[in-house]
Amino acid sequence: MSSTDRVIFSRPYRARRELANLETVLSSDHSHGDGQFTAAATAKLKAITAAPHALLTTSCTSALEMSGLLLELGPDDEVIVPSFAFTSTATAMALRGATCVFADIDPATGNLDPASVAAVVTPRTKAVVVIHYGGVAADMAGLLEIAGAHGLAIVEDNAHGLGGSWQGRKLGTIGTLGTLSFHDTKNVHCGEGGALLLTDEILMARAEIIREKGTDRARFLRGAVDKYSWQDIGSSYLPSELNAAVLDAQLDEFETIQAGRHRVWDAYAAALPEWAARNEVRLMAVPADREHTAHLYYLRTPTEARRDDLITHLRERGIVAPFHYVPLDSSPAGLKLGRTPVPCVRSAEFSSTVVRLPLWPDLADAQIARVVEAVTAFRV
Ligand SMILES: Cc1ncc(COP(=O)(O)O)c(C=O)c1O
Repeated sequence: MSSTDRVIFSRPYRARRELANLETVLSSDHSHGDGQFTAAATAKLKAITAAPHALLTTSCTSALEMSGLLLELGPDDEVIVPSFAFTSTATAMALRGATCVFADIDPATGNLDPASVAAVVTPRTKAVVVIHYGGVAADMAGLLEIAGAHGLAIVEDNAHGLGGSWQGRKLGTIGTLGTLSFHDTKNVHCGEGGALLLTDEILMARAEIIREKGTDRARFLRGAVDKYSWQDIGSSYLPSELNAAVLDAQLDEFETIQAGRHRVWDAYAAALPEWAARNEVRLMAVPADREHTAHLYYLRTPTEARRDDLITHLRERGIVAPFHYVPLDSSPAGLKLGRTPVPCVRSAEFSSTVVRLPLWPDLADAQIARVVEAVTAFRV
């Protein structure tokens, strides 16, 4: 089988204006951050998310680190984190010295289960970090209720969910702070990149200082102060104009990207239910009150052994279908830096049975058909 026959898992989208935008930056004298493409991409993100404020960052991880700084997390604080999540979701909080307290997920969506969160809240809990797995919103009603009752901040790690919504509200703008990823595995990318979404004016004022090495350079650039100086702790979280130029070109084609991804997602969702029912396989599902982003299409096998067999079966047919997220609570750093008051059994089960199918905007119909044929030829 030649490499062109392989159906790879993910291919970064190429937007038409990327090279022209890069040329504009390279031939200007301005390739550091906060130039014209940062401004243009930020405006587009605000339009997509309806966020009052957005700041481009170097990654979603950086935006999560900024969240930890903005919430003033410290060693006395606990932050509730889903066991089934990416490492950054936890490590950005652990970096502030806070203890990560792991909570279990709802297997219907792979997202944080509010009942599990309620069971691990203590007087030291300061925040909850939620991910919207695959771009499907978590149960925000339950989480907002717990956060309201205990005075907790909610950070939405919305790495997967640009443009998604929960009950009509855009993901990343429902909690206190929201983060986005533009890593090249994401729907919209610039190689490595991210953003922080904010609704609160006071947090925004501090965020732009934290992002610019602790200085008020952003205010200086707006002409609000005549020089900039060290104001607060911070770091260098702003991306260069080169990244922003690519991101801006991608955001120009956001609707095309999303339509391409939904085409693939819908094709899997239409073709697999009969096979899934016969084989006790659970397919990715989207609750009626949520609009998803077609970031992933996953399915879950009855056992880990059969999941591994399915991955091997697909690999032998030239199809790359990986699993992911080793549960954070049982990982070496999770054991050292976190607490797991209630065993996260559903996260462990989800992690050991999930498989993700190839999904990118230009995946050809013939390739989708090959994936469907290979999957449905497998007897679980
Ligand atoms: C849920 C989640 N959060 C955060 C990240 C980190 O994103 P970045 O690579 O932009 O830091 C990822 C990356 O895949 C992710 O899946």
